[in-house]
Amino acid sequence: MPLSFFTKSRKAMLARCRDDYATKMRLKYAPYYHAMEAQTGTNVRLDGRDMIMLSSNDYLGLSFHPKVIEAGRAAMLRWGTSTTGARTSNGSRACHVELEERLAAFLGREACHIHSAGYLSCLASVAAFAQKGDVILADKNIHSCLWDGIRLSMATVERFSHNSPADLREVLGAVNPDAAKMLVIEGVYSMEGHIARLPELTEIAEAHGCFTVLDDAHGFGVLGRQGRGTADHFGLSDKVDLVCGSMSKSLASTGGFIASSRDVIDYLRTNSKQTIFSAAISPGQAACAQASLELMQQEPQHHERLWANTRKYRALLKSLGLDTWESETPAVPIVLGSKERVYLFWKALLEKGVFTVMSIAPAVPAGKDLIRTAVSAMHTDEQFERIADALSYAVKRL
Ligand SMILES: Cc1ncc(COP(=O)(O)O)c(C=O)c1O
Repeated sequence: MPLSFFTKSRKAMLARCRDDYATKMRLKYAPYYHAMEAQTGTNVRLDGRDMIMLSSNDYLGLSFHPKVIEAGRAAMLRWGTSTTGARTSNGSRACHVELEERLAAFLGREACHIHSAGYLSCLASVAAFAQKGDVILADKNIHSCLWDGIRLSMATVERFSHNSPADLREVLGAVNPDAAKMLVIEGVYSMEGHIARLPELTEIAEAHGCFTVLDDAHGFGVLGRQGRGTADHFGLSDKVDLVCGSMSKSLASTGGFIASSRDVIDYLRTNSKQTIFSAAISPGQAACAQASLELMQQEPQHHERLWANTRKYRALLKSLGLDTWESETPAVPIVLGSKERVYLFWKALLEKGVFTVMSIAPAVPAGKDLIRTAVSAMHTDEQFERIADALSYAVKRL
């Protein structure tokens, strides 16, 4: 390869970044990567101003629970700050095994494996098991980590309309019946707040012999008995082959998990590159997740408060005539339909001290540009009054 080729490609890549940056600066359009200067629960400080956080995934509000903080501190004192290696080599600790056993038991599964990010767990849940020649049936609105897993697996992908059993049935009708098949869905869709139509979807999957993967990052802690998730909510745990999720939401930590049968988890541990070659989650984070898991079972008030807050918040949005895409869960979008409207609304809320997150196409389907908001058990009645004022102001600004 001539040297000029490398020079040219390096220049092209640098130019791509420079042009992108120049466009953002011209449009003064940089609403992401805000670094909070301080935080206590749902109160955050940004640019010297106190704000209410209305977009975190701390559904149960455990990230400031004294028992969770203490568990993290104790684990760091005992194990140090990092594992500095993969589970396969030097990174495995007793605290990992303990958390995996507790998660497996909670979810009624034989085994579990944890990773240092939910993204890794969910990606590996697909990439480790599907391969070239297989067919993956994927809901059109699944998270980016699942799409990456699909791409890495090299399997053929067939998309079906979001949460539509009828379309899944139709798509499956045209698939080679002899191919190995995998159904990939989420329990609760993070942008839409929709709950998967699991009874119908799993019935179809069973009829076609699909291996079913459920990403329950937003269902875990929110739905089901004590927060056991979407499959438990429907009493259909035995119809789902593998549940994956994140520990950065209800479990108030970071990391991810995959729970399934012993064989499946063993296969993952010996075949998945993301599992074999990435450093183990830090002991502090594993301990925080485990403490949260215990609290989910010992202190039902967080779950109850989450749902009481969710009902109150949804009623508020309804009274303002806002479109919530029929969200059924604490993840509540405010659909505004264009990026200009989203930006205006987001800025108005920010002006009034409420922090939210914009999500615009292609992160969401075209025409569904939205503000993503999420309710936490930690939101207080007084905060809801301020949120109501801010929303009324933003509606007027529109
Ligand atoms: C549905 C879904 N799956 C997986 C992930 C990845 O989890 P994490 O952020 O813990 O890496 C997310 C994160 O937002 C998610 O929403």
